[in-house]
Amino acid sequence: MPAPNMDVIVSLAKRRGFVFPSSEIYGGMAGFWDYGPLGVELKNNIKAAWWRQMVQLRDDVVGIDAAIVMNPRVWEASGHVAGFSDPMVDCRNCKLRFRADDLKGPPSEIACPNCGSRGTLTDARQFNMMFATHVGPVAESASVAYLRPETAQGIFVNFENVATSMRRSLPFGIAQIGKSFRNEITPGNFIFRDRELEQMEMEFFVHPSQEDRWFAYWVEERHRWWTDVLGIDAERLRLRPHDPGELSHYSKQTTDIEYRFPIGWSELEGIADRTDYDLRAHAAASGKKLSIFDEAAGEHVVPYVIEPAAGVDRALLTVLIDAYEEQQLAGEKRTVLHLRPSLAPIKATVMPLLRNRPELVDRARRLAADLKPRLAAAYDDTASIGKLYRRQDEIGTPYCVTVDVESLTDGAATIRERDSMTQERVALELIPERLEALLAGRAAWEGVPRAAPPAAPGADAAS
Ligand code: GAP
Repeated sequence: MPAPNMDVIVSLAKRRGFVFPSSEIYGGMAGFWDYGPLGVELKNNIKAAWWRQMVQLRDDVVGIDAAIVMNPRVWEASGHVAGFSDPMVDCRNCKLRFRADDLKGPPSEIACPNCGSRGTLTDARQFNMMFATHVGPVAESASVAYLRPETAQGIFVNFENVATSMRRSLPFGIAQIGKSFRNEITPGNFIFRDRELEQMEMEFFVHPSQEDRWFAYWVEERHRWWTDVLGIDAERLRLRPHDPGELSHYSKQTTDIEYRFPIGWSELEGIADRTDYDLRAHAAASGKKLSIFDEAAGEHVVPYVIEPAAGVDRALLTVLIDAYEEQQLAGEKRTVLHLRPSLAPIKATVMPLLRNRPELVDRARRLAADLKPRLAAAYDDTASIGKLYRRQDEIGTPYCVTVDVESLTDGAATIRERDSMTQERVALELIPERLEALLAGRAAWEGVPRAAPPAAPGADAAS
């Protein structure tokens, strides 16, 4: 099925409690979104899948959780005060501001894309995207601080702390998941481009001679995470190396993993070769030595850094789009989210066939209570069984369990699987084990092969 259009996803996300416009009762706020009861579960599951793959399953990566507000000198040294900006054009008539690279020609020759007036666009000016705030009681220039625009710098300034406390040698990585803030001029396309966003970033420190091998490794490994762990359709993913002109100020080479969004092919994650740009910049600005003794090379080196950087919000949008399917069943529309069970906000929902029969309600509630300590389970009796199934299909719940009148005599209930809609009758007391086995079976089948690291990384570091 072709990808759904964005309006369909926005509507489902709101209707079913995944994502709401931020402060909606006051008219919302462009570029800010709130995650609802199902959205926060899905988001947590995506972050857990990343953390497990990038940190917990590996020997060579550890995690941190750094502060969002850092010493402002960090952002001077990193180049963000000078370089984290977009060329912007203002319309003197309607006062709207546009990214210069979104315009279809030189500002002096084209009409304003919003109000259509000619000759009203200014020349392009650099506009810094960092949000500034003040720390302390007095709002003066000395108290200016920034909300971090990327989580990466919290990792670079902790390089020495982590390497020493965790007794690390090259190659090794430091991972972090956390909020970042960017004053995007054109936020939009739902949660694709936000002003408050969450990132999953990992800085992998290698001997400079190993840069290209590890860059290739991480491009492949990260692509594999999207397909094998999140289950994203490989046909809708592609790798796109950056042209030299579009590289960030810190990058020597970058490859984007792009997804075919309803708005066209767009970046989902970037893998950048940041060389020793950041560590050298912080060493120079702080006066601290940010190098490490490399055993294989027998020398002190300032490592190079390979950085896979993904957005949580974009990942969640991708998962929703990719899992979405509309089916025609006996003339009726069925909407299904084919989420991997590991990502699904709810793994199993228990429902009584008749909500006006207290004995059925009671038995179904007891079953849901038995399930809750073992897996993310829910109870629902707020509609007819047909409507309840449709709702669960639409939020991606892999299994529904229906307690019916026969359950009271045969002591069993029906487990229905979301994708095939096949049903099986299982004794009530065995249902928790059966669901656990079904979920474990799916997890094993959707197992997570990992790209092998480059042969003997570091072995020829001195060559
Ligand atoms: N530390 C490198 C870095 O921040 P980036 O390409 O600017 O690189 C990495 O961001 C990822 O963060 C992107 O691939 C995207 O998934 C996500 N991202 C960046 N800006 C975003 C925004 N305004 N809204 C949502 N996600 C964003």
